[in-house]
Amino acid sequence: MKSATTASRTAVLVCQGRAVADTWDDVERFADPTAARLLLDDEQAAVDLASDDAPPPGWGLRVEWEMLRATAEVIVPRTVAIDDALREQVNAQVVILGAGLDGRAWRMTELAGSDVFEVDHPASQQDKRSRARDLSPVARDVRFVPVDFGRDDLGEALTAQGHRVEVATTWVWEGVVPYLSRSEVEATMRVIGDLSAAGSRLIVNYQVPSAKAALGRLVMRAMTTLSRRPDPLAGEPTRSTWTALTMRELLEVHGYAVVRDVDLLTLATDTGRPVRQRRSLANGRVVVAELS
Ligand SMILES: C[S@@+](CC[C@H](N)C(=O)[O-])C[C@H]1O[C@@H](n2cnc3c(N)ncnc32)[C@H](O)[C@@H]1O
Repeated sequence: MKSATTASRTAVLVCQGRAVADTWDDVERFADPTAARLLLDDEQAAVDLASDDAPPPGWGLRVEWEMLRATAEVIVPRTVAIDDALREQVNAQVVILGAGLDGRAWRMTELAGSDVFEVDHPASQQDKRSRARDLSPVARDVRFVPVDFGRDDLGEALTAQGHRVEVATTWVWEGVVPYLSRSEVEATMRVIGDLSAAGSRLIVNYQVPSAKAALGRLVMRAMTTLSRRPDPLAGEPTRSTWTALTMRELLEVHGYAVVRDVDLLTLATDTGRPVRQRRSLANGRVVVAELS
């Protein structure tokens, strides 16, 4: 579970990944000009280093360079898949669960007729609000909904901010499910089901179980510790993984039918850039589901 008082470091890491990828000329269908604008100076300095194909000198900088480039490679297909799914059917309400430093409300002009509800852990959300204060949303409205999925009532919080149960909603749940326990994921899914009118769409990014991926994560963390750099994964351990089947079953219980469920490795091959992080990409998936 996230600490009650500190903003998410993984949210910064994935935002840095988007900022690195935004500098790549050979990647197709990806753009996120908001990412760099949401970073603090030292975070952007690391992005500048990682945007250079030549690794920096020194072990510490090299570990960070590797981590940001690996993150960028995984983030590109994930972002493209979710953006595509959002554009395919634009609903008047979009709820971004565990929004972190997501820039969609500030960059996707397709959301000009949508109210975007940014749900996040209170500490992460406070941090986001201060970073985003100089940005102008392109969405019709952005409403901030502070919620700890492990403690707070998501349904009540959304309703208090004007979410309407009779209006179709697109739910985006990106990069969050792994950090929640199974019971937190199930409880959140129950609320999503209860607040979804016909025509709602649900887009979930999740991780499948993999011993090799868990080992890779441990190695990366050990290298970060040895390099004496801050470890972005320290406060947010992986708490749940799902197979395509168990995810489908979870969604179906709440009335959602799966439209497609694709692994990031398959999606990455469409983005034009050579694939290096095969294992990480193969373990991440994006499922798109609809409620009729
Ligand atoms: C890796 S970041 C992903 C952020 C964003 N969705 C993205 O892909 O850029 C994980 C996000 O989940 C949020 N999160 C993790 N545990 C949470 C909890 N128990 N309640 C609310 N938010 C949580 C963090 O605050 C953070 O914003």
